[in-house]
Amino acid sequence: MTARVEAEPKPLIDEREIERRVGELAEEISRDYAEADEIFLIGVLRGCYIFLADLSRRLTVPRRIDFIAVQSYHRAESGAVRLIKDVQTDIEGRHVLIVEDIIDSGQTLKYLLDTLKARHPASLKTCVFVRKECRRDVEVEIDYLGLEIPDVWVVGYGLDYADQYRALPYIAALEPGEG
Ligand code: IMP
Ligand code: MG
Repeated sequence: MTARVEAEPKPLIDEREIERRVGELAEEISRDYAEADEIFLIGVLRGCYIFLADLSRRLTVPRRIDFIAVQSYHRAESGAVRLIKDVQTDIEGRHVLIVEDIIDSGQTLKYLLDTLKARHPASLKTCVFVRKECRRDVEVEIDYLGLEIPDVWVVGYGLDYADQYRALPYIAALEPGEG
């Protein structure tokens, strides 16, 4: 166990703000894909699960859902990302939207974009709920962004620290506790 286990989650983004932004993103996406026959949402496990559930229920366009999982050597100099679970569908010719919980260095999203682009989707876009300010090692274009946050470790709304706190209904910053 590391020192961060002692940390106390401090609310950063409340449920109302989350709901409002998810609603706005769903409207924007539904508008942009109004002419498409269908969107293929690919959620990046595990952090995306609550955001994807909320977002997908608010879209007004036909959608399909699948999941992908990667292991990132987070902030490691190598920037290595490894695929540990692939989607179960051939994405060629589909309108793919990657749904990710958070972007920090950008390495995970960059890897996913490169990997999925090679499979010739009809279009490939990204939707990220939270972006940390000033952390990108790799510039990645985000087509739909929920919120910007400071460079702190956050938990809740699907996001974890050591697989804890995912079910918190709001997003909280994990900071070392006093004493
Ligand atoms: P990146 O490759 O550095 O952009 O990191 C992206 C991945 O790291 C995300 O998909 C999360 O799984 C994880 N991550 C980065 N920052 C946080 C955080 O503050 N809380 C929880 N997970 C995070
Ligand atoms: Mg993630």
